Order: sequence, then C-alpha cells, then structure tokens
Amino acid sequence: MGNTVKRIAVFCSGGDAPGMNAAIRAVVRIGNYHDLHVYGIYNGYDGLIKGDITRLEKGDVANIIHKGGTVLKTARCAEFMTKEGRQKAYNTLMANDIDAIIAIGGNGTFTGASIFYSEHKFPVIGIPGTIDNDIFGTDYTIGFDTAVNTAIDSVDKIRDTADSHNRLFFIEVMGRDSGYIALYTGLGSGASGIMIPESTIDVDVLVKELEKMVIKKKLFGLVIVAEGNENGNAQEIADLIAKRFSDYETKVAVIGHLQRGGSPTAMDRVLATRMGHGAVEGLLAGQKNVMCGIHNNEVVFVPLKDAIKKIKPIDDSLLSLPAKLS
Ligand code: F6P
Repeated sequence: MGNTVKRIAVFCSGGDAPGMNAAIRAVVRIGNYHDLHVYGIYNGYDGLIKGDITRLEKGDVANIIHKGGTVLKTARCAEFMTKEGRQKAYNTLMANDIDAIIAIGGNGTFTGASIFYSEHKFPVIGIPGTIDNDIFGTDYTIGFDTAVNTAIDSVDKIRDTADSHNRLFFIEVMGRDSGYIALYTGLGSGASGIMIPESTIDVDVLVKELEKMVIKKKLFGLVIVAEGNENGNAQEIADLIAKRFSDYETKVAVIGHLQRGGSPTAMDRVLATRMGHGAVEGLLAGQKNVMCGIHNNEVVFVPLKDAIKKIKPIDDSLLSLPAKLS
C-alpha cells in the first residue's frame, strides 16, 4: 500500500440527499479506525474556499445515521468554477495539511472535483449523493431510495382522493434532467402513465392510453411526470390533456422538496455506509480522481470523468409497463 494519507477532509456539495449523514459518519469512523485525522468542511466548495474546516472525532458523528439533510451543510458554489476560487481552496487544504478529500454530491460536485484534480493533482474521491440517481458507474446514488419512498407515500395519499372523486391526477416528482425518480415512483405506485426527460412520450400517445382507461371502466388515474419532462411539466401536460380529454376532471400535485428530506431508508443508510467505508479504504490504497460507487452489489472505483460524462442508461422497456399493468 505505502501511502502518505494521514489527514483527510470530507464535505457535501450540491443538493442535499437523505443518507449523506450516514456517509459522513462512515468516513469519520473508518478514518479513525485507520488512525487518520478526519476534518469536515462546511458548506461545500464555498467552505473549502473560505477555510470553514473543523476536526471531526468519533463522537461528532454520533446520532446522525438516521437524520436527513447533512450536518456539514451544502451549497452550490459559483466561485469554485473559477481558477482563482480553486486556488483559494487549494490554499485552505495546504494550510491545514490535508492529504486527500472526499466529496459527496452529484454531477456538479464531481465536475468541480475533477477540474481541481487536473489543476492541483490533489487526491480526491467522490461519493455519489443525489436523489436523482443520474450518475454513471453506480447502480444507485445516496438518497434515491428515500426520495422514491417519500414520493410513493405521497402518491398513495393522492390515490385515495383521486379514487374518491374519480379524478385524473398529474403528479410531478423531482428530476431536472433525469427520470429515475419518476420511473420508480410510477412503477411502485401503480401509475397509469410515466413521463420522463430521457424518453419523450407524445401527448397523443398518452391521450390514447387514457382513452383505454375509459373503455376499461377505470374510475381514476395517476400519471407521474418528472419535473424535467421535455414536452411539459405536470401542469403543462395536465392543461394539454384537459383540452383533449374530458372524461375525467384533471388535477395537479407537485411533491417538490419533500423528496429531499426525511430519515434515510435502510437501503440508503447501508449504501452510504458502504460508500463512506469504500472511499476511505480507496484513498488508503492509492485511489484518486475516482468515484466510489456500487455496481452489482460490489464497491467499484470509476474515473470521475466517466461518472460525469457518460450517460447512465434508463431501461426504456420499463416505461411500457404502466400501459400493460393498469
Ligand atoms: O439534483 C437534485 C435535485 O433535487 C433535482 O431533482 C432538482 O431539480 C434540483 O435538485 C432542485 O434544486 P434546488 O434545491 O437547488 O432547487
């Protein structure tokens, strides 16, 4: 192994995701297990630039494994996108004798980390933490499972009122560029339709599917729409449908940031714990400029450039299931 990693720092960046705390806990405790000094950086890259850094001991991460959000806070930081900002961040790391960093976040976080590595050759490992599950190279990202469970819980409640009033609901879930939350929420809640950015369903096709509901004597319907759906968000799709299809009264519900909070599910806690452990072990084994992901239930290290640039495929065939099942 022969490494020189003795002092590491961990931070979160971008949108928060339930399970980030479990990952922070794992990094600190596995770091301590290996006699490393572990530091926490507050407010993401902004804190790295400003020197907002504190030593974290075992007890500092007690009682957080079950908490949503992130105890280290998070931010999106425009200054880190500049060379000057990244130089200041490097200065902070040098001033604190940090040997390597662990960045928990999504695509924007990894893009920053990768540029930082190419400029300063500073060892960095990314942990995928985003509810969107849109990172190539890992089967799941931290927070996705919790967000889907939260969304399904809300859809179940909407189902009750949709059923009572014989209404057609268009329910918007998060996912600016990605349909994973919509796909899993739709399949898990028995929706009649799912609309996602990766596969634009023509509104004509949706109308035809909805007409079949009338023939099948279905009394109510649920359509899940990802916020980034190309031909319209839930309100826009509902307006288009209402003009062409009057058999049901239409209603819209936007679940929004509810999906980002709450206690992480067991799946997210275990995923975060494995990734936090994997990232520290990876640094000690000389890994750098990589993401620590999970593929086929094994910890894997994926070059950050692949995690950022390559598109994680979504299984299109799953999109045809609601029409067959409902
Ligand atoms: O990337 C996670 C995510 O929740 C997206 O699904 C959503 O579009 C975005 O963040 C919202 O970001 P913000 O909280 O900054 O509005």
